[in-house]
Amino acid sequence: MSLVVLLSGPNLNLLGTREPAVYGTATLADHVATLRQVLDPAGIELEHIQSNHEAVVVEAVHRARDRADAIVINPGAFTHYSWALHDALAAFEGPIVELHLSNPQRRESWRHTSVVAPVATAMICGFGGAGYRLAALAIVDLLGARS
Ligand code: DQA
Repeated sequence: MSLVVLLSGPNLNLLGTREPAVYGTATLADHVATLRQVLDPAGIELEHIQSNHEAVVVEAVHRARDRADAIVINPGAFTHYSWALHDALAAFEGPIVELHLSNPQRRESWRHTSVVAPVATAMICGFGGAGYRLAALAIVDLLGARS
């Protein structure tokens, strides 16, 4: 059975009530359930870790090495400055899907840089909660599983 690790960075635990005009009203648990709806029938197991601490997210990437087949990551604000996360992801050998609810390119200029993008296989952004479904479909495709 394949294993996918979903990593959620800082402030994503507040989804549902955090800036709903930007991020919608669905909670993080709702998004995890969306991923599972696609991954379960494809026989892909999902492990989810959310943290507001950079070191916890970096160490979760370390633990995913040699264990997980793919990573889906919404790094939150770590996207824009965490070179430690960049380096950890660079050491992961499977596919990495970078995911954002909003489209950072349409927002403040400091969000236009992603230090994760150079080590990601692909990026999904700007689709709101539907991005989680799209990420799951991308993973099924990347792992060559059947949906
Ligand atoms: C985000 C975009 C980031 O710029 C922001 O810091 C977040 C959420 C998104 O999902 O749109 O926390 O990653």
